[in-house]
Order: sequence, then C-alpha cells, then structure tokens
Amino acid sequence: MRKVKISALGCYTPERVLTNFELEKLVATSNEWILERTGISERHIAGPEMATSDLAFEAARVALAQRGIDASELDAILVSTVTPDMMFPSTACLVQNRLGARKAWGFDLVAACSGFVYGLTTGAHLVGGGTHQKVLVIGADTMSRIIDYTDRGTCILFGDGAGAMLLEPLAETDDANAGFLDFLGEIDGSGGDSLYMPAGGSRLPASAETVRDRKHYVHQDGAQVFKYAVRKMYEICQNLLARNGLTAKDVGVMIPHQANRRIIIATAERLGIDCEKVVINIERYGNTTAGTIPLAARDALQSGRLKKGDLVLFAAVGAGYTVGAALWRWAM
Ligand code: UT7
Repeated sequence: MRKVKISALGCYTPERVLTNFELEKLVATSNEWILERTGISERHIAGPEMATSDLAFEAARVALAQRGIDASELDAILVSTVTPDMMFPSTACLVQNRLGARKAWGFDLVAACSGFVYGLTTGAHLVGGGTHQKVLVIGADTMSRIIDYTDRGTCILFGDGAGAMLLEPLAETDDANAGFLDFLGEIDGSGGDSLYMPAGGSRLPASAETVRDRKHYVHQDGAQVFKYAVRKMYEICQNLLARNGLTAKDVGVMIPHQANRRIIIATAERLGIDCEKVVINIERYGNTTAGTIPLAARDALQSGRLKKGDLVLFAAVGAGYTVGAALWRWAM
C-alpha cells in the first residue's frame, strides 16, 4: 500500500448557538449539571433551511479551498452520517452534485460516532491501493433533527456540525514517515438498543403511531453507553498502540470523539496519556456525532497544538456499538 496523507481540512458549524441556559427553559436541567456531567456549555444548531448535505458541502468547500483545487479533481466522496437528508439518494450524491465533482463516485457510511474514523480509514485504503488520487472524507450530522427536546437525558448532549479531510498520496517532498499508519475497528451489535432511533426504517416505517410514540428520536441508555465507551475506547487504543510497538508516551496528540468530557478524561488517564495532549472542545459544540473529530482537529491545528510530524491517535465509540482507533502522522 502506498502512503496516504491528510492534505486539507475544512469544517462548518451553523451560526445559531443553543446554550445550556436556553435548555434550562426547555427541560428540568441546569447549566451546572450539564457542565459538570458532560463538559458541554453550548452547541450549534442548524436553521430550518439547512440539512446535513448543506453542512457537508460547506465543510467540503473549505477543505478544497485550503488545498486550492477544484471539486472536479476529486475521485471519491465518502460521507459519514446518521442524519442523511433523506433515506436515499445518499448524502454523498447530494454533495457531489452541489460541489460539481464530476468524476467522483461515493457513498454514505453509517457508523454513528465512529463514522469519521471509519470513513478516514476507508478513504486511506482507496488512495493507498493506488486507484484513487484524491478522496474527500466528510463527517456530517444534523443531530438536532432527531433529538427529542423534551428528553433531558439526550437533548443536552448533541449539536450539529461537519468536517472534511482530503486524502492524497504522500508526495516525494513529504516526510516518508508521515500519513496513515494503522487502524483497528470493532463492532458489537448486541449493544444496538442502548443507543438508537427506533422508527423510520424498514423495521418500523413512519406512521401516525411512531410519531405519536416519539420513535423518530434518539433513544439512549446513557449510563450503559458511558460504561461501554470508557472501557472500549481504552481497549482499542491500547491494542492499536501495542501492535505498533508504541506506548502512550509516543502519542503526540490524541483526538477523541467528543461525547462526554468525563469519557475522554477517563480514557486518557487509563492510557497514561498526558491530558495536555488530549484535544477537548466539547464545551462549544457538544456531540456532533460524525463531525466531532474533524472539528477537534481543526481547533487543535488553529491553536497550534497539532503540528506537522505529530503522531495523532484518533479514537471513537458510538451507536451500534461501533469502535475505532487510528494512528496517523500529521503531514500538514
Ligand atoms: O457518542 C456516544 C453517544 N453518547 C454518549 O456517549 C453518552 C454517554 N452517557 C453520558 O454521557 C451520560 O450517561 C449522561 C450525560 C447521558 C448522563 O449522565 P450520568 O452522570 O450518567 O447521569 P445518569 O443517567 O446516571 O443520571 C443521574 C441523575 C438521574 O436522576 P436520579 O434518577 O438520580 O434522580 C437523572 O434523571 O441525573 C438525572 N439527569 C439529569 N439531571 C439534570 C439526567 N439527565 C439530566 C439533566 N439534567 N440533563
């Protein structure tokens, strides 16, 4: 497999910000409780005119502009999302059309909060296999559309956002050690009913009853997901580092999925990764599902915490359950 690098990164969050104080008016909660139990202070919410493909398109535009290329150069577009504009066509098709990416093929990938890590790995293999030169991987979710704003256990957690990374072969001028290094994934369907949206698919198509029973919203057993996430995020990272002959000390920057600040801190502590190396921006965005990892990478780049040559550990656990971790050496 040839070496693959991340050559551009673009993100988008809608303008509207929903604060904890506003949520206090919707459900029996408090700013203090949300901050202490999750680390979240505010999240961005898409206006009624926007859908997931719009967030994805905006993030893609930023990434392409950063690299200075036209969308017609893209070979493939992969969109990780659990909130597509509609069941079909795929969000990838909608984004391809809006971008004018004439020669790109692509598809949507459903892996919830692990979606971006899975998409990045799939894209890396397309480029690494030698058949693709430029693959755009997008993580985008409009979670506000499937959140029940009468359920205090879920409505405080999620926000809307998108991020895109462009993947290309490593150039001769790049450090030969940079780019994609390894990935480990795991799925465990036995945890499917801990976090899911019951209706709207072929099992329970939309009906007056499903709407009445609020089955088109996210249903979650928060405590169950929390315990699973803390255990599996640690395990997958530990196994990935070990099989590469690495330890926590070798990690330059850890960019985890942002579901709960306590999950992230507990994982980092168990791994023995210094908290200063762990990117946490959940305070401003909440959990944007497939959008969290590129948003965190963007913030880390902008603040100077993520630099060329850093060994980056991406990690996520999400609905499914889905679990994934990847090692990259940053090349930008
Ligand atoms: O990306 C994967 C997606 N999801 C996750 O990773 C979520 C993982 N889970 C979590 O983040 C946490 O479980 C939550 C933030 C959802 C809940 O926090 P917790 O510390 O696990 O609370 P809990 O569910 O154990 O509930 C403790 C108490 C309960 O009250 P009682 O029964 O002790 O009287 C809840 O009813 O806190 C109550 N509670 C709240 N109180 C104020 C639950 N949500 C709220 C709230 N405000 N928003």
